[in-house]
Amino acid sequence: MTKKNEKENSLMDKIVSLAKRRGFIFPSSEIYGGFASCYDYGPLGVELKNNVKNLWWQEMIRTQNNIVGLDSAILMSPKIWQASGHLTAGFADELVECKECHKRFRKDHLEEESKTNCPDCGGALNEPRKFNLMMKTFVGPVEDEANITYLRAETCQGIYVNFANVLDSTRVKIPFGIAQIGKAFRNEITPGHFTFRTREFEQMEMQFFIKPHEADKWFNCWKEARMKWYLNLGLKKENLRFKEVAKKDLAHYAKRAVDIEYHFPEPMGWREIEGIHNRGDWDLSTHAKHSGKDLSYFDQDSKEKYIPWIIETSAGADRATLVFLVNAYQVVLGGRTTTTESTKEAEVVLKFDKKLAPIKIAVLPLVKNKEKVVKLTQKIFELLKAKYLTHYDEAGSIGRRYRRQDEIGTPYCLTVDFESLENQDVTVRDRDTMKQKRVKIGELVDYFKEKL
Ligand code: GAP
Repeated sequence: MTKKNEKENSLMDKIVSLAKRRGFIFPSSEIYGGFASCYDYGPLGVELKNNVKNLWWQEMIRTQNNIVGLDSAILMSPKIWQASGHLTAGFADELVECKECHKRFRKDHLEEESKTNCPDCGGALNEPRKFNLMMKTFVGPVEDEANITYLRAETCQGIYVNFANVLDSTRVKIPFGIAQIGKAFRNEITPGHFTFRTREFEQMEMQFFIKPHEADKWFNCWKEARMKWYLNLGLKKENLRFKEVAKKDLAHYAKRAVDIEYHFPEPMGWREIEGIHNRGDWDLSTHAKHSGKDLSYFDQDSKEKYIPWIIETSAGADRATLVFLVNAYQVVLGGRTTTTESTKEAEVVLKFDKKLAPIKIAVLPLVKNKEKVVKLTQKIFELLKAKYLTHYDEAGSIGRRYRRQDEIGTPYCLTVDFESLENQDVTVRDRDTMKQKRVKIGELVDYFKEKL
């Protein structure tokens, strides 16, 4: 490993450690020794991830006129997975096993790293064999063939099988989209890189139903729109790129695919965070064929009847959350705390976009042993917490409290001091500019309305 890699590798380790220490992401089942590659979102993590999902939902459902939402079940008829191609070779990775240490790896991952032997012990590898990624389970008390079903491997199948229901129950017309957020499961051979690749994860998928000959237009439109979403939420432009998926690597359903990739700290490097796919008429045609139900669309204006094509945007909610966390992480050298205690030590600041920040405001009494100051601070806390997720913190020096809030990315810290009692105002400190401003207590709600 190069010196640069070692440094950047430890950066990812630092982010993982901060995520645990401050309650963003915990390893699953820790008191029982852990459960490989599964994670739980802590008090701050769940807020961050909910913000990611809400912002995606808002973008899809609220800012567009022609996209509707759906929440389909995780357990579905196994016939769906037969029809979609997920139970056959289409949804299988090639697995190789080390003859010495018996660890298993994805063949394509080893190829990407130009490895022909076991990356762990150097041993020779077995011939590759296919490994299906569907997670099998049984429905009901009898564990036999007839009761097998699968945890969904992608949320979009729930959308395709409800296409006719949505058409019949709403007034949507082509072009239109159906959006869904929900859990998906894949029995990944090599999960890893923290929450980047796990066996249980959440997807944010939108399927846009179009006229077949308009596929290129809508593909490009959604590709640009999705990139813009990440940029508008503060991802650094130099860390984002499109990657055209080579024909030979296309998923069984795709006619064309472009990934949005983010440059994670080494050794991860460029990795996919979202895929934009032209799925042609594969999904509706195959479900029409296997279910016997007509899934074509009749255009009232042109009197045409056709199977719509689908442009899909498929993002991972966990990957997006991880990306926003990594992107926000900054280390600055001392002096941010602007108090007598200010040091030149490295300080961590999570510079989240304000819309993403889990806690929006921290309310801090300058001292905790003056009853009037504490009472006024608590009153302000009650006022603000009704509108924004707000922290109250009186423990430790004001400098330490600022640092604690910087470390979790709180955009505003509000300090109540002795002057506040007389002037009915407080100091508001901006996380990014470090500027401090006195704001009248009566004007606080309006002040934050403009900022948050
Ligand atoms: N419906 C299309 C589809 O599922 P995909 O490229 O397999 O396409 C889409 O997955 C997105 O789902 C990925 O870009 C990624 O963000 C997320 N994703 C897929 N597998 C994942 C895993 N094992 N762990 C976390 N996120 C995953």
